[in-house]
Parts: sequence; C-alpha cells; structure tokens
Amino acid sequence: MDTQVAIIGGGPSGLLLSQLLNRAGIATVILERSSRDHVLSRIRAGILEWGTVELLREAGVGARMEAEGFPHDGTFLTDAERMVHIDFKGLTGKQVMVYGQTEVTRDLYDAQDAMGTTILHGVEDVSIHDLDGPVARVDYTLNGERRSLTCAYVAGCDGFHGVSRQTIPEDKRREFERVYPFGWLGILSRTPPVSHELIYANSPHGFALASMRNANLVRCYVQVPLSDKAEDWSDDRFWAEFRRRLPSETAARLITGPSIEKSIAPLRSFVSEPLRWGRLFLVGDAAHIVPPTGAKGLNLAASDVFYLHQALTDALQTGSKGGIDAYSDRALARIWKAMRFSWQMTTMLHRFEGEDSFAERMRGATLAHLAQSEVARRDLAENYVGLPF
Ligand code: APR
Ligand code: PHB
Repeated sequence: MDTQVAIIGGGPSGLLLSQLLNRAGIATVILERSSRDHVLSRIRAGILEWGTVELLREAGVGARMEAEGFPHDGTFLTDAERMVHIDFKGLTGKQVMVYGQTEVTRDLYDAQDAMGTTILHGVEDVSIHDLDGPVARVDYTLNGERRSLTCAYVAGCDGFHGVSRQTIPEDKRREFERVYPFGWLGILSRTPPVSHELIYANSPHGFALASMRNANLVRCYVQVPLSDKAEDWSDDRFWAEFRRRLPSETAARLITGPSIEKSIAPLRSFVSEPLRWGRLFLVGDAAHIVPPTGAKGLNLAASDVFYLHQALTDALQTGSKGGIDAYSDRALARIWKAMRFSWQMTTMLHRFEGEDSFAERMRGATLAHLAQSEVARRDLAENYVGLPF
C-alpha cells in the first residue's frame, strides 16, 4: 500500500484527522483540489466548543489558540429591547473559545508540514475504488498525470460538494435536508466589538449576530432574503440595518467602519446517512451541513474526527474493527442532536417570509421563557458549549 489512510480534502476535517493519525503513528496522504492559499482565504465561523479545544490541544495545535483565542463565559440573545444572558460558565462550568476557523486551519497546515505529511494541492478528478476489496484505491490527476494511491482506508473530508459522498451508491444513502428561505450577509471589519460576548439578535426586522475575532476585528451578520447580492449592500446600508436590529442601548455603543470582507451564505440543514461505505468514511461537511446559528459546523467536523481517528488507529494497530463498525452510528447520534439545536436556534431567532403573527409570538414567548427559566438557559448552554463526545 502506498499509505494507510488516504484523505480526500485538505480543509479542517482532513487536516485534523491526518494530524491525530500521524501522532498515533499512522501514515496518511491528503489530496486537496484547491491551492493552500485558497483554502486559507475562506472566511468561516469562529466559535470552538470546549471538546474541540481539547482535541486541538491533543493534536498538538493548541499553542496559538491559547495565546490569541478568547475564552467566553457566555453569550446574549436579544428580542427587540430584551437582553437574555446565557451564562455558560455558571450553568455548565464550561466556556467556548473565540478563535477563527481560518486560524485553526493555518495551525493544522503548519503542524502537518512539521510532521512532513504529504499534502498534494491542485489534484483533479479524484475517484475512489475497491472499497469492498482487501485494499482501497484512489485515482487522481496531478499536473496532467493520472496517478493511483492504494490504502487501507479512505476518509472523505471533501465537503458538501466533494466526490466522497457521491461514491456511496445513491440507493444506499438516505439524505435529510431543510433549506431556510434566507441567508446571512456577513462582513469583517477592523472595529471594536459592541459587546464583550456575542449577541444573537431576534428583531422585528430580522436576525443579526454580533461576533468577533479579536479586540479590533469583528464579524457581523444580518439575515437577508436569498435573492439579495452582497454588492446590493453598501457598508452604510449594512451598518444601518445591523444597528436597528440591536437593542437601542447596545446600538448606541456601536462603532462602524469599512468592511474588509463581505459575503452572503445560504442556510441549510443537511445529513447523509450512512457515514461509512466499506473502506470509506465520511467526515464533516461531506456528510452534514448545519445553519451557522448554533456555531456547530467546525465542531461537528471535530467530533467526527474524534470518533474516527481512534477507530482507524485501533483497526490499523490492533486489528480491532469495533470502532470503525460503530463509527457511523456513534457520529450520527451526536450529529442529529447538533442538527436539532442548530435548527431550534435558527427558528427561534429568524423571521420567516410570510409567517403569521402567531409564529412571531412563538419566538417572543420562547425568548421570554429563556429569560425566566434557568432550566431553559441551562439546556441552551449545554448544547452551545458542546454535548459530550
Ligand atoms: N478532491 C479533492 N479535494 C476536494 C474535492 C475533490 N473532489 N472536493 C472538495 N475538496 C476539498 C475542498 O477544496 C476543501 O478544501 O475538500 C475540502 C473540504 O473542506 P471544508 O468544506 O472546509 O469541509 P470540512 O473540512 O469538513 O470543514 C467543515 O467547514 O464549512 C465549514 O461550517 C463548516 O466549519 C465547518 C467546516
Ligand atoms: C462567527 O464568528 O463567524 C460566528 C459565530 C457564531 C455563529 C456563527 C458565526 O453562530
């Protein structure tokens, strides 16, 4: 075999899996379609569950996160003028870490380079074969040359649009989807955060999120119709809309500035079952997509990696197949709970076009209950900081 585990996709899932396997003495090769600069240029979310923080430490990529990340004890949910504080630390004893996914990916590339792991960028036409045979094979084209890679197992870490999920016969897959009738217009701006913790705002004008990367770099979002284009939104229009969705006392503290990045992301919940097909294992966005309202995207990818790296190490080093046989069910059990939480946060905090006044009242009542019920706040906090692996 050319390697033990062939990993399709050099995003956070593929890199973290490879890093943990390499530290356990397992050989890997990563095949990534894009250039490294392109992978690192993607602006993604920035909230890490504590379980993800600990897994990144275990992978030996915790140093910069510790130095530059910000542990947060809680977050705010607002309903027009009402502000509800969710005290993660007080309610669960746990925090979350504010540290951009782009930084996590950069740290993983540096660690993989230090390991000397083979990461091939610019690969094309990846195809996966012999998943029911003694040895699997991945074919790909690099610099115009068709090549093959033989391996014991294949990890499909190639995201929603990758080849891995499509390799599982359609009639063997069950796909579940919910597409939301709105998107998130997000900007990055070198301005100070309006609050020391994130604010998830439900307002009569729609949803808004005040997030951050550091003391002078914010990531802010407003809910927009899917038909909108980023270029329809000047910075002034963005900030005016963002300001009016915040409680007035908070809005009065808002400092605005030019955007250095602006884009619209659609919202979707998606799961594909099973996560395993013979010697192929799906990880992260290749198998599931969450709307960003629960900050679960990267964290779900990390929990898949948590289960799979142990399972593959056991299978390759001890021959015990229990872990790989249980991987799909174990990972899916946690995926569906995070799916539910992300769907709940999305329906609780967004205006749905054409919704009736009863729906609006339901959002108001849900937030009023959160304000009054410590049990309800603890439930939300437990899910937000991350359910146990
Ligand atoms: N061949 C090789 N590489 C591929 C192919 C292919 N056919 N198709 C896709 N890729 C690469 C993409 O270029 C990308 O770099 O696979 C990588 C998949 O990375 P992500 O989409 O970031 O998915 P994942 O690593 O699972 O990370 C999940 O990303 O989208 C966020 O919210 C999501 O935070 C979550 C995280
Ligand atoms: C972000 O910082 O980009 C972010 C934070 C929390 C979310 C989504 C995005 O729920």
